[in-house]
Amino acid sequence: MLSHRFLSFSVLVAVQAKAGISRTSKSFPSQVIFQTPDSFFFENIAVGASSELLLTSAVSPTLFSLDPTTVDATLNPVHTFPNANALTGIIEYRPNMFVVIASIINVTTRQWTPGSIVVWSVDFTATTPKVHVLGGLTDAEAANGITALPGQPDTLLISDSIAGAVWQINTHLCSPALPALGINGLHVRDAYLYFTNSQQQLFGRVPLAVKGGNVTAARAVEKLGTVEDGGPDDFAFDIQGRAWVTVHPGALALFSPPASGRGNWTQLTAVGNADGTDPGLIQPTGAAFGCGSPYQETILYVTTDVGQVVAVDTSA
Ligand SMILES: *[C@@H]1O[C@H](CO)[C@@H](O)[C@H](O)[C@H]1NC(C)=O
Ligand SMILES: *[C@@H]1O[C@H](CO)[C@@H](O)[C@H](O)[C@H]1NC(C)=O
Ligand SMILES: *[C@@H]1O[C@H](CO)[C@@H](O)[C@H](O)[C@H]1NC(C)=O
Repeated sequence: MLSHRFLSFSVLVAVQAKAGISRTSKSFPSQVIFQTPDSFFFENIAVGASSELLLTSAVSPTLFSLDPTTVDATLNPVHTFPNANALTGIIEYRPNMFVVIASIINVTTRQWTPGSIVVWSVDFTATTPKVHVLGGLTDAEAANGITALPGQPDTLLISDSIAGAVWQINTHLCSPALPALGINGLHVRDAYLYFTNSQQQLFGRVPLAVKGGNVTAARAVEKLGTVEDGGPDDFAFDIQGRAWVTVHPGALALFSPPASGRGNWTQLTAVGNADGTDPGLIQPTGAAFGCGSPYQETILYVTTDVGQVVAVDTSA
């Protein structure tokens, strides 16, 4: 998501200097299935019920779809959001209904315009998608990733990498509700909020307590792994509970939980490398598993800063 491109480039430069020191690797087959002609970059990805990919870009207010099952897939505009020039996080929060974050980002300063962040619902259950505003994040400084609480799809958590906060829609949960995590990617799974912190190069989690629709941290943050050779961004869980994490400048890392359930997760490089020299994966941003068939559910789709959509066979 955005913080790499816009905020933590100095971190990434430092990271590149000591690249190649930490992770073992196992290559999973991957293929660039789409490339924007002008390297127009993708920010985040979600997968629709009919297996089409929904793609956002931080340099466009238009939500696009792409059918990954066709050869020569094309990018199709789905909806253009008003009062915005950028889209960031997108997730499915109810069957065939998605939330998308739209905002205005100053391309010179690379900062979000205060008061511009709006969270929209996009309903694909109708023949033409219906959109409506869910809420505005008036006090947020940035809005990168978004996740919904399982079983409580209307409680949405949004990461703000600049304020170092997690927001619940219209509710600031920075402190003491949730510690200042500085997080980028985030997903809720089994009552834990899993997150990446790009600046601290951290993959971690914090147990959540939900009371009356308010989310708080039930216990302290647990560090699950340090990504020593890159900046972690978004991630997706597979059905085995492993996390596939996009890592700048050019790797997809696979984090697996320890058998004991406690301690650091093991990590390996699944695609690309820590130097960012693999042309098949350049500055990866978002990641989401396919859906619609058992085969698609094993395919991880990864977006990149240079407009690639990369399909990774995680069953290999
Ligand atoms: C972006 O920020 C700069 C510096 O504050 C300002 O001069 C410029 O007008 C802003 N651009 C837009 C489009 O708001
Ligand atoms: C939820 O949080 C809001 C804002 O902090 C507070 O006003 C409200 O009382 C809380 N509700 C419960 C049930 O804790
Ligand atoms: C986890 O990894 C960190 C380094 O990233 C190390 O300092 C720590 O000892 C490890 N913890 C366990 C329980 O192995």
